[in-house]
Amino acid sequence: MTLKNKKILIIVGGGISAYKSLDLIRLLKKNDMEVKTILTKSGKEFVTPLSISTLTKSKTFENLFDSQSEVEIDHIALSRWADIIVVMPTTANFMSKLSIGRAEDLATTVLLAADKDILLVPAMNVRMWLHKATQSNLKILQDFGYLFVGPEKGEMACGEYGEGKMSSPRQILSYLKNYFDKRDIVKKKKLKALVTAGPTREYIDPIRYISNESSGKQGYEIAIALNKLGIKTTLITGPSKLASPKGIKVKKIITADEMLNEVKKTLPVNLAVCTAAVTDFKPAEKNKDKIKKDELNFQSINFVKNIDILNFLSKNNRNRPQIVAGFSAETKNVIKNSKEKMKNKNCDLIFANDVSKKDIGFNSDFNKVSIIDQRGSINTIQKNKKSFIANKIVQILLDKLLDDRNFN
Ligand SMILES: Cc1cc2nc3c(=O)[nH]c(=O)nc-3n(C[C@H](O)[C@H](O)[C@H](O)COP(=O)(O)O)c2cc1C
Repeated sequence: MTLKNKKILIIVGGGISAYKSLDLIRLLKKNDMEVKTILTKSGKEFVTPLSISTLTKSKTFENLFDSQSEVEIDHIALSRWADIIVVMPTTANFMSKLSIGRAEDLATTVLLAADKDILLVPAMNVRMWLHKATQSNLKILQDFGYLFVGPEKGEMACGEYGEGKMSSPRQILSYLKNYFDKRDIVKKKKLKALVTAGPTREYIDPIRYISNESSGKQGYEIAIALNKLGIKTTLITGPSKLASPKGIKVKKIITADEMLNEVKKTLPVNLAVCTAAVTDFKPAEKNKDKIKKDELNFQSINFVKNIDILNFLSKNNRNRPQIVAGFSAETKNVIKNSKEKMKNKNCDLIFANDVSKKDIGFNSDFNKVSIIDQRGSINTIQKNKKSFIANKIVQILLDKLLDDRNFN
């Protein structure tokens, strides 16, 4: 019964599939949800406020400059009222307006002022969908954090076939059910997560150290995405130029030993995501004073292995998080090496990351990740912003947690 009493604000855009919004309203009402609606000027060409209001049993909002509506519920309060906002159909024109942050009518103003998740349900002709302008708007909107359902492949109202067909009201309902299920479980179970990020530094003497190129970006984005879902998140990070994200407990460390210590102190958690590029080796001893240049002899430095934090978490019998996931940074044989890593470390998921390419991986704002599970199946998230990849990863982690028989 997770849908009962949930508040949905539906914005009906100006596309031929607008009539299907009536079906969605009917389904939502059948599930005892509360529905309010905004109809855009073009949307009104396809469905009438009377049909919508008959189903929602409440006023259909249309105009920004309507003193009566502003008195009943002002445009800011309308978005505060909702648990989620759904735009259906989302036309190509509407995507373009959102991508540049327009606030020219009630719908766009409410969306720009919204503090809730916004689910876009695109519907358009295949050429419109595949147009470079729409695809570029899609990337911008994904980066802004808009959620998407569809579009699907299929026959369109215009008779053409391809991608652009709107997801059905039942598919949207099932998306919403999954969305609220996850949020409810996060709240009910008071989920906790830890994320490790950035490089570690292992000092040879007070000023010299060995380390690596990791910037911490992907780990920070994962911590932000977990926190956005209401999961109490601790970010344990090596030296990074990034600002500490708001609302997240950040523990700053330098060495692998310090990171391990903080990880131990943070347990127990439900989810552990190891994105840190922990330096594999450290000098057996750190020289108290700076070693003089002519005395510095690398052959004489004794290196020892650092403890593997991912391995420690996976094989921790007393306090093992339900889901342990780790990144595998490789420069060749990415999938093969990552699969091996997964087997050796007994973690639940590995995110294989090709760090040989300049435009993804270390230091870049972009990434491409292949997610490998224990059965060896691979799901690749194509090149995209690290924030986008982080949101996808968090959804996968949560799905996996909800599937875990020991968890429910
Ligand atoms: C009969 C008809 C059907 C249309 N269907 C669609 C559609 O499915 N998707 C779309 O992106 N635009 C469609 N359009 C164009 C939009 O109506 C137009 O771009 C409008 O400005 C969108 O308004 P909105 O931004 O309020 O959604 C259609 C236009 C007509 C005349």
